[in-house]
Amino acid sequence: MRFADPGRFDPDRSPFVPLSFGAGGHYCLGAPLSRLEARIALPRLLSRFPGLAMAAPPVRRDAWIGRGLDRSSIALTSAA
Ligand code: HEM
Repeated sequence: MRFADPGRFDPDRSPFVPLSFGAGGHYCLGAPLSRLEARIALPRLLSRFPGLAMAAPPVRRDAWIGRGLDRSSIALTSAA
């Protein structure tokens, strides 16, 4: 195992080698575009809706392939 506590969210973990966009020969071609979009869109979204929060616990998809969320409800409120 590479990290002692792989299940813990730790954005400061070292070495920082995220796999969000895959790795190697099939590394995501859209990674730079997605990072740029996130840098522009996320600060604007959070500034417009400072009270943005999960409205309910996310529901995971029950699948081996194409894992991820089935539903994720977000509450958009302009007050923090
Ligand atoms: C947050 C957004 C995105 C995430 C998390 C993401 C994630 C990934 C991951 C994990 C892979 C590797 C799949 C594998 O190893 O089989 C991949 C591949 C790929 N992505 Fe993305 N992606 C994102 C956005 C995009 C966008 C916006 C584009 C196009 C404009 C794109 C185009 C591709 C392509 C063409 C591949 C295949 C590369 C290859 O097989 O050589 N992705 N992506």
